[in-house]
Amino acid sequence: MSKTILVTGGAGFIGTHTCIKLIESGFDVLVLDNFSNSSPESLKRAESITGHSIPFIEGDINDAALLDEIFAQHAIDVVIHFAGLKSVGESVQQPLRYYHNNVSGTLVLCDAMQRAGVKNLVFSSSATVYGDPASLPIGEDFPTSAINPYGRSKLMIEELLADLYRADPEWNIALLRYFNPVGAHPSGLIGEDPAGIPNNLMPYIAQVAVGRRAHLTVFGGDYPTPDGTGVRDYIHVMDLAAGHVQALLWLEHRRGIKAFNLGTGQGYSVLDMLKAFEQACGKSLPYQLAERRPGDVASCYADPQLAAKELNWRAELDVQAMCADAWRWQSENPDGY
Ligand code: WQD
Repeated sequence: MSKTILVTGGAGFIGTHTCIKLIESGFDVLVLDNFSNSSPESLKRAESITGHSIPFIEGDINDAALLDEIFAQHAIDVVIHFAGLKSVGESVQQPLRYYHNNVSGTLVLCDAMQRAGVKNLVFSSSATVYGDPASLPIGEDFPTSAINPYGRSKLMIEELLADLYRADPEWNIALLRYFNPVGAHPSGLIGEDPAGIPNNLMPYIAQVAVGRRAHLTVFGGDYPTPDGTGVRDYIHVMDLAAGHVQALLWLEHRRGIKAFNLGTGQGYSVLDMLKAFEQACGKSLPYQLAERRPGDVASCYADPQLAAKELNWRAELDVQAMCADAWRWQSENPDGY
């Protein structure tokens, strides 16, 4: 009997790619999404990629009655919780919206899970909980801190889940700290489709390459890094999706709560990524150097050993694959979904 996974935010960038990997690994999937930053189209395309239906419910994780209905009507074994707002800049402008959506939404979800006796949870956390690391690579035992409401919401959720586990050790919780998810499914049918002007580097570069943006603005060329531009641990979204399947398997034979870095362990600068994308798209991409972006750290990359050891998971796809797959998606879908 296959297990049923409730995937909140499952129509989003990481959610859709993870649903594909879950189905390919033999799990049944049910998506809950309010489509505030995604569209049902991404799920339709994921269905055509897998040849399986992906049932979804349009709704909000803050809707307790809806959640009770879902748990009453479906035998959910595990919840993978992606649903959340994720723009650093927007969170600074609209902190209450971020705390209501991310933190209160998680509380309402956990209440409903507790009422239904479903206590297996994979939470979509972020490397942003490490703040500005004192050294590199970053291990899961590093001190955590937040420098913006988005990051604080992720940290608050990690801490409330730890309290929940301490109060009720029947809970099984994996906190997955993503580094920088990029790329797309190799089919080119699904990919990253941010609303408005992209906050993140790679979708912005892809939109320059496809002619939607005039040039890339490089935020800062005077960081203490090899070429002066910011260094990050970019990870292919398909590798990230595979990490969620391994986390589900880990939950099956464990009790407890644990954080895992999902990164490659390799840092690349802004200019490294720009050059890699130029090779992928076969064009020279214009950029302008500008001031540092407030809140950015110079360098951030993972020590991925714990996930390798305990989740039996390692990132396998390189920067060339990240750029080639992102370009295929963007060039075949210039205006997104
Ligand atoms: C990467 C690098 C920028 C845009 C954030 C969140 C993190 C996760 C990923 C949600 C930095 C530079 C960027 C641009 C640029 N989000 N840059 N020009 O800030 O590392 O992480 O997004 O889960 O939680 O904190 O990612 O892609 O915004 O920036 O020069 O137009 O690219 O300065 O060095 P970041 P990013």
